[in-house]
Amino acid sequence: MNFVSIKDISKRYEETLSVDHLTLNIEEGEIFGLLGPNGAGKSTTIRMICGLLKPSGGKITVNGFDTNKNLLEVKRSIGLVPQELAIYPSLTARENVTYFARLYGMSGAKLKLRVSEALEFVGLIDRQHIKPEQYSGGMKRRLNIACALAHQPKLIIMDEPTVGIDPQSRNHILDSVKELNRLGSTIIYTSHYMEEVEAISTRVGILDQGQLIALGTKEELVRQVSSEEKLQIQVVQISELAIKELEAHPRISKVILAENVIELHLGSAQTYLQDILYILSKHQVSIQSVVRVEPDLESLFLSLTGRTLRD
Ligand SMILES: Nc1ncnc2c1ncn2[C@@H]1O[C@H](COP(=O)(O)OP(=O)(O)O)[C@@H](O)[C@H]1O
Ligand SMILES: [Mg+2]
Repeated sequence: MNFVSIKDISKRYEETLSVDHLTLNIEEGEIFGLLGPNGAGKSTTIRMICGLLKPSGGKITVNGFDTNKNLLEVKRSIGLVPQELAIYPSLTARENVTYFARLYGMSGAKLKLRVSEALEFVGLIDRQHIKPEQYSGGMKRRLNIACALAHQPKLIIMDEPTVGIDPQSRNHILDSVKELNRLGSTIIYTSHYMEEVEAISTRVGILDQGQLIALGTKEELVRQVSSEEKLQIQVVQISELAIKELEAHPRISKVILAENVIELHLGSAQTYLQDILYILSKHQVSIQSVVRVEPDLESLFLSLTGRTLRD
């Protein structure tokens, strides 16, 4: 089932078309990674999904509810971890989470229990009575996450939750995304860090200048970069003859020799590795290592836009 359905939405700010006729469906149970450079339109899209911002055109439903007509139901279905921290420095961590849970209509014993669970989940239960002004950047981020969890939303949206934090908190957040998903939540996760999106997402959308330029699993996307694979073979020494024979192989399209590393571009590394090893051993080439170079989302972005993600 589509949990989020986005149909042809746009958002214009004067001359800028921040989101440009975006159509996208997110299924229940996914960890959907929305990857794009700064200014791509990720936060604007997220705000429209949450009903915080009205699209200039198009329609969005969340959990079957139209963001234009059933805003309250939409808000109940979503836990938003916004890009900018939304916590009150003068309230303790527990008071912050309680405040947000009340906003979503929770009360009584259930509220207390869920607040404790949310604080426990992000690893802040021991410091729940401390005010966040004494927290590190990473702890503030984790509190920001707890505030979005206490009402047990079906969809959790995290907008660049790891920007500017220490590696330990970052890993904690990435693990918690996977755990929340395992417990049944659908997740939308935005980032301009390719590695994070690759590591956790079941499906990835790449946004650039307000448009979705690629959509699929990581494997489907990197296959678009090139139908070829790359092998790097480190050797002690190699003769002209061996190189010539590699070049003559019908499925090897390119042989690049740099120092002691031969880079081969070929149809399938797995299928032709035997042939390659045979040719090299025939010419008495001693091999030090063989590495298959994995294409990644960064190379896809580069090939689609001519720019890097962090320009
Ligand atoms: N309130 C606003 N007023 C004018 N322009 C805006 C506003 N919010 C965002 N933009 C512009 O919309 C584009 C997309 O921004 P944003 O959605 O924040 O991108 P991202 O989250 O991917 O970094 C940017 O060019 C940004 O300058
Ligand atoms: Mg943003």
